[in-house]
Amino acid sequence: MSKPILFSGMQPSSDSLHLGNYIGALSQWTQMQEDFDAFFCVVNLHAITVPQDPAELAQRTRATAAQYIAAGIDPQKSTLFVQSHVSAHAELAWVLNTLTGFGEASRMTQFKDKSQRYGADSSSVGLFTYPMLMAADILLYNAEAVPVGEDQRQHVELTRDLAQRFNSCFGDTFVVPRAQIQKETAKIFDLQNPTAKMSKSADTEGGLLKVLDEPKANQKKVMRAVTDDDMTIRFDREAKPGVSNLLTIYQVLGDRTIESLETEFEGRGYGDLKKAVAEVVGDTFTPVKQRTEELLSDPAELDRLLLGAADRANEVAQATLDRVYDAMGILRR
Ligand code: TYM
Repeated sequence: MSKPILFSGMQPSSDSLHLGNYIGALSQWTQMQEDFDAFFCVVNLHAITVPQDPAELAQRTRATAAQYIAAGIDPQKSTLFVQSHVSAHAELAWVLNTLTGFGEASRMTQFKDKSQRYGADSSSVGLFTYPMLMAADILLYNAEAVPVGEDQRQHVELTRDLAQRFNSCFGDTFVVPRAQIQKETAKIFDLQNPTAKMSKSADTEGGLLKVLDEPKANQKKVMRAVTDDDMTIRFDREAKPGVSNLLTIYQVLGDRTIESLETEFEGRGYGDLKKAVAEVVGDTFTPVKQRTEELLSDPAELDRLLLGAADRANEVAQATLDRVYDAMGILRR
């Protein structure tokens, strides 16, 4: 029997993935690739919805793919490819734009946040239509499951709405996907501002743990993480956001339960917890960083891998796009 299909992706818009990406998405991906026919995409067309330096974007696209592999995505098992290698993404996004209400797109909270940050005149129309490109990514592959962090839930909901709308207007064409969000790890918070999500666009980098940074730098950031003055180590998201975030990080990376950590650290100080978290972060990131560097030292081999996967992705995507065009009466070659 064929496996259910999974699609997910990340933007290559930073010099390194961060701990939020790693825990919220990548660590789920590596587990799920065993049971799903998985498509993992580096969504470089999404990245240009805000300005990018061309040379940097090309480099970061390869580096993101390398980090997927280094973190455990197996290119023999999963289809790991670059969005711009499959032109159907941009084509289906256009179709979906024509089916999305202006008000509907205006309600996307990520657009509202980002356009507020950049101001209306500096926000591109691409930023506005970003969620429809994401919907195209998912729908092209007939994906049932979309493993993401909490911040992407609304975009996956929109994808579901668009799939259902298309199916009821033009006949059954799309699989309606669902977001797969792991409750405890759906949102990793900034170490300096533990009520805000860890994000590459944070105002300062003090609370951001990057996979490719020097281990010492990450260690320092963990040791300086904001906690509270209550002095007890227990999980309480409301009253103790900083400590709870550290416990969550330890729970996932150390494969522990919160209860066992609360027992282990009973009566001990925050310094001890931070040291332990810094260590588990280092143990996780160091091999990923090393492997990423190895992969990037042979860009031709990496490109060969990505292009091979793009052929497979293109076959599936083009078949979906053909069905869409036929259903809508759009002539094709
Ligand atoms: P991006 O590149 O911002 O983030 C990649 C993945 O990391 C998750 N994530 C987090 N999870 C937990 N805590 C955090 N602090 C945190 N920060 C980021 C995100 O939820 C995401 O899963 N629009 C998407 C990329 C995309 C996509 C897709 C995803 C484009 N097309 C199709 C899935 C399916 C994005 O910007 O993710």
